[in-house]
Amino acid sequence: MFDPVEKLKEFVRFPSVSTDSSFKEGMRGAREFVAGLIKSIGFEVEIVPTGLHPIVLAHRGGDPKWPHVVIYGHYDVQPADPLNLWKTPAFEPEIRDGRIYGRGTADNKGPLMTHIAAVGNLLEKHPDLPLRITFLVEGEEEMGSPSFQSFLEKYQNRLKADFVYLSDTGIPREDQVVITCGLRGLMLFDLVVTSAKGDLHSGMHGGVFKNPIQAIADLCATLHTPDGKVNIPGFYDDVLDVEPWERAELAQMGQSQEHYREFLGVPAFYTPPGYTPFEAIRFLPTLEFNGIGGGYQGEGSKTVIPSKAFVKISCRLVPNQKPEKIRRVVYEAIKQRMPRDVTFELVDQHSGTPYVVVPPDRSNTPKDQSPVLAHAFRAADKAIADVFGKKPLYLREGGSVPIIADIKRVLGLDSVLFGLFLPEDNLHAPNESFNLSVMEKGIRASEKILASLAGV
Ligand code: BES
Ligand code: MN
Repeated sequence: MFDPVEKLKEFVRFPSVSTDSSFKEGMRGAREFVAGLIKSIGFEVEIVPTGLHPIVLAHRGGDPKWPHVVIYGHYDVQPADPLNLWKTPAFEPEIRDGRIYGRGTADNKGPLMTHIAAVGNLLEKHPDLPLRITFLVEGEEEMGSPSFQSFLEKYQNRLKADFVYLSDTGIPREDQVVITCGLRGLMLFDLVVTSAKGDLHSGMHGGVFKNPIQAIADLCATLHTPDGKVNIPGFYDDVLDVEPWERAELAQMGQSQEHYREFLGVPAFYTPPGYTPFEAIRFLPTLEFNGIGGGYQGEGSKTVIPSKAFVKISCRLVPNQKPEKIRRVVYEAIKQRMPRDVTFELVDQHSGTPYVVVPPDRSNTPKDQSPVLAHAFRAADKAIADVFGKKPLYLREGGSVPIIADIKRVLGLDSVLFGLFLPEDNLHAPNESFNLSVMEKGIRASEKILASLAGV
């Protein structure tokens, strides 16, 4: 068997930034690397072209009577910027204090490597393992997976499986693993406001028409109530109720709010009434301003009235909310409220549907839950307790992995989401890292889960 840490270093050295076309070579390198590694442990591997970044698809085990698990991961990473804030270069992995540093170590190369290594170890002991395994590794996750749906539709025959298994979500502490039971969805757009047809001298023309920055600021100020709720009719209509067992799980997380506040570095929390920060992350939707701009941004000052201003907005959605409906009610509110004396444009960005799965033996577990899925949850519960020394918690998560809902819709499959990254792993930020002891335990636990599914 290969050394997973050495292989992870090799993997991280490929700068596979999907959103930036100048990283095409890095994307190809990462893809071919992961395809080769999966092939080396006995899989038949294919690289499936898409409109943009090809998908690695690999199978082993042919008996249709065996259970079938699809293991998902992504080989693309976020841009490494701002580069000057990295202690060591983003694509030159380095191990310090039990962590491997580098862009993509936690999101998602390390967690994916965890499962490839687990499968490799298991197949070494049981070359004839009675389990069908499909690896599905995409390269467009960090840009909203634009090619994924049509890929699923086209390849659904090869993806007839019992469930999907992956690690692309987090855990609060090294000794407290979480099986993620829900993910928030997303709905993103830009609002661009124009007033005059060009930038103008603010002395010659100031005070005679509405400045587009003022129009955008006025509009943005209407989108929340003073107590922190989203101020748009219909926004909360479909929000899924929180089950008592979910609150009980969260109560066991043992996270201190004060500690979290300090971790964030904020002077105070600002959550809608009746929700703790830990609840708000998981159970409530949001509307966030991700970027705002217009006018002069350089040094010193410039007396100008800009022609245009823009704001980038995203909504995180919780289960039962539909991105299309939220887009409609948000756009409706903006159209009604936008000052009449400017023109504006709403530019759709991507969206993703929220997801929820209920583990077995809960009050709201679907009666028709697949027995293999239930077995996988129970096997994960036991394996994680054995290896990490503590049973996992079953929690929804604030982040989004939109393809999980796509898989549910197109293939009808639920996912077992084995959380592996820690708050201090700095996902999407400088100095991203992955805890090597979590990885080592993850490999052992994952091997046990897969062994249990195969009945060995
Ligand atoms: N792995 C993350 C999702 C995640 C982050 C789950 C934190 C749990 C906790 C994933 O790669 C990601 O970053 N997703 C994006 C959405 C995507 C469509 C750009 C996100 O959540 O912003
Ligand atoms: Mn990810």
